Amino acid sequence: MILSITYNKDYKIFYLSNEECTYAFHIGDGGYLHHLHFGGRISEEDIRYLSRELKTEFAPAYNAREQYVSLDTLPQEYPIYGMGDFRETAVLIRTQSGNRITNFKYKCHKIVDKKPQIGGMPSLRGGETLIVTLWDQENNLQMDLYYTIYDKQSAIARRTVLINMYKESVDILKLNSFSLDINRFSFDKICLQGGWAKERSIERTPLSHGIFEVSSTRGSSSHHLNPFIALCDRNTNEDYGEVYGFNLVYSGSYSIKTQVDQLGFTRIGGGINEKDFCWKLKSGETFETPEAVLVYSEHGLSEMSRQYHRLYRDCLINSNYAYKKRPIVLNNWESTYFDFTEKTMCDLIEKAKGTGIDTFVLDDGWFGSRNSDTAGLGDWFVNTAKLQGGLKNVIKKCHECGMKFGIWFEPEMVSEDSDLYRAHPDWCIQVPNVTPCKSRHQLVLDFSNPEVVEYLKKAIGDILTENDISYVKWDMNRNITECYSLYLNAEHQQELMHRYILAVYALAEYLTSTFINVFFEGCSGGGGRFDPAMLYYFPQIWTSDNSDAASRAYIQYGTSMCYPLSTMSGHVSVCPNHQNNRVTPLKSRMYMASFCSTGYELNLNSLTEAEFEKIASHVRFYQSISDLILDGDLYRILSPFEGNYFAELIVSRDKKKAAFLLMKMSARTNDCYPIIKLQGLDENSHYEVEGMGVYIGNVLINVGLKFQNDLNDFETICLRLNSVK
Ligand code: GLA
Repeated sequence: MILSITYNKDYKIFYLSNEECTYAFHIGDGGYLHHLHFGGRISEEDIRYLSRELKTEFAPAYNAREQYVSLDTLPQEYPIYGMGDFRETAVLIRTQSGNRITNFKYKCHKIVDKKPQIGGMPSLRGGETLIVTLWDQENNLQMDLYYTIYDKQSAIARRTVLINMYKESVDILKLNSFSLDINRFSFDKICLQGGWAKERSIERTPLSHGIFEVSSTRGSSSHHLNPFIALCDRNTNEDYGEVYGFNLVYSGSYSIKTQVDQLGFTRIGGGINEKDFCWKLKSGETFETPEAVLVYSEHGLSEMSRQYHRLYRDCLINSNYAYKKRPIVLNNWESTYFDFTEKTMCDLIEKAKGTGIDTFVLDDGWFGSRNSDTAGLGDWFVNTAKLQGGLKNVIKKCHECGMKFGIWFEPEMVSEDSDLYRAHPDWCIQVPNVTPCKSRHQLVLDFSNPEVVEYLKKAIGDILTENDISYVKWDMNRNITECYSLYLNAEHQQELMHRYILAVYALAEYLTSTFINVFFEGCSGGGGRFDPAMLYYFPQIWTSDNSDAASRAYIQYGTSMCYPLSTMSGHVSVCPNHQNNRVTPLKSRMYMASFCSTGYELNLNSLTEAEFEKIASHVRFYQSISDLILDGDLYRILSPFEGNYFAELIVSRDKKKAAFLLMKMSARTNDCYPIIKLQGLDENSHYEVEGMGVYIGNVLINVGLKFQNDLNDFETICLRLNSVK
């Protein structure tokens, strides 16, 4: 293991290095930190020439003797506002005098073995950490920049902490988690854009001069733009070329901006969205930003993704669950929606008996007067008109049929037609005298009010304590609009978006740590809050409400850019599909739902006998590859965004086992025969390829497998590979 953080006193350079990468910056003239390098591993050489002044007119100098030493032309580690740098700033603080210029300079640093976790927010565990303290003399402000490096990962986790040492409060208008200046700009940028039922489509466009932003102002990380961006060389592809990935461990309103400047440098920075944000930091108080995870790969996008996958499985996801076999669920939502009784539920459970499905999940509609989406949210007690025996009878039925029981909550919401709203109309986010926007007929609870969170701890805690529940699906089906809290004082109103998400984390922390044997799945109208912070509490997330196998090929392919297959929950659903009416072969639905954490979302009682019989063999198939889904290395082979095929290969760490999935998106008459080269296998091992014979690794990698040319629309081929002596 080569893992080290060192400080070279002569060069005043910090080097964070492991076997894969180096991150380096130095303390320049005037005590400002200048970025030098993030990329392939280098030895501790003097590379300060990278931050020597660049002569350019109109560049304001902070040093009267040397008129060309301008922060506007130098690569910054954490750019401050004013002092000559006109580019995007990482920090903007307003003092009570109205001043916004802060002059943070190096003060000291320390290196710690045990990474300090962020208070009240998820962050990665472990890793050696450098904490550089900056000091703003004029305003008595301390800023700590955290850099964590991990063994064998080409990744750096960064975050920022601000401490107000002054006797008066200050307003934080912006405080980035990270900022990085890269000394070139000929990049493509890759984002994961989408919407409801079409989450995380890969969009790749050239980076150009000016500012580009991926962001959310919705109070959640959103369906629309994931808190992720990659910058890659123009010729980088899945397996070749340089790429930088940036992913925020945050679920609220965020922003990541890129800026290409006059000298052809690229600045990228991000964190909590500064729009409508203002945090009052009182004297003596500390503010911590969320963490950002920066990954560098010199072997293309697939390798960047594998870095994220390993890091999140090893250091982010709850270690009790990260590598543990996931429940194989039957969820009743698409088979009944709100229209069910105790009997229909018990019939469904009975039908699943013996299929291998191990958990039955009762979705929306089991509580309060919830017979449609217009009522009941917030009333977390059983609707005994529907379930006469409470949850007990349904749970008993699950146990009789050899299954566990799971249940749906939407903790953050309230319906106007609910006992909770009638008792506490002031508990929702709203502006006095303004009719609030409704979305799915519901309002968002004001999580900045501790009473609201206490109510939910008790209400949800009671259900989980009184019943034998093994699984919870935590949903969230609307975004925040009129952002105002009846609980907060005027001076704290622009803190609401961040306070809201901190309180969501606090409730998630309480429930997941109190009910440690309950498996929690996240959800937000499908994949509207699929981000690393949610993965900290919820080892898997409902990837999309769209479970059409063809749409899922795109959604799961895009999601895998940062997130491991095991974190994507995907179910076999009915045809025609409820979201887009498409008909796909059952086999394709089963295989696509196998390349994630699988389950079922259809009415087993309405399947034909032949269809029903396939379930047990699908579950057995899934079980045979579930270790790969949990722990394997993913190789994206063919992109549905770029051609007519989806193909992925998942290979065990010891390279002895693999699974390959191919889907043809659209049938073509007299089509070419696809010859597909595999990757990630051991060149010298022989592999038995299911149904195709034995091949040596180097043939599979360098020549490839030849497949039939007459696959139909959305038809799939799924193969298991096992190394043989
Ligand atoms: C959201 C979820 C669905 C289902 C419904 C219930 O849309 O994504 O899976 O739970 O809510 O109302």
